[in-house]
Amino acid sequence: MKNKQVKIIIILGLLTGLVSGCYYDNVEFLYPNQNSCDTTNVTYNGKIAPLLQTNCNGCHSQSSASGNVVLEGYSNVKAQVTNGKLYGSISYAQGVSPMPKNGTKLSDCDISNVKRWIDAGAPEN
Ligand code: HEC
Repeated sequence: MKNKQVKIIIILGLLTGLVSGCYYDNVEFLYPNQNSCDTTNVTYNGKIAPLLQTNCNGCHSQSSASGNVVLEGYSNVKAQVTNGKLYGSISYAQGVSPMPKNGTKLSDCDISNVKRWIDAGAPEN
């Protein structure tokens, strides 16, 4: 009798482990970006330039520079960092046009990665 109880407890323990294990996997599978912000490789070439390419360069390329703002090429981007408008625009700061214009605000993760890069001195890396 005692042996049986011990077995049941062990089986229950294993089941609980299994169920919570699967539950965790499901959450990560269903919401892959929830709480997880990839902050590795926050470099100009690794993250910032591709992010601008995807979200901004349609309107801010060398050939089509809306508002005379070019976000292609490091020195052009750096100029918008120095005048405070790059971060101001994506963080919807007062006094700066919110960007992407007429689009969805960038994710918190993207915005914080841009800030991280700027705080590091906006290096050309
Ligand atoms: C659909 C076109 C479009 C997209 C996409 C876009 N912009 Fe703009 N942007 C504009 C226009 C047009 C202006 C000129 C000012 C205005 O109309 O608000 C502008 C102005 C700016 C300015 C100057 C703002 C000021 O107040 O002086 C900055 C900085 C800027 N954009 C950054 C960005 C960034 C960063 C992105 C991507 C996250 C982006 N833009 C995406 C169209 C766009």
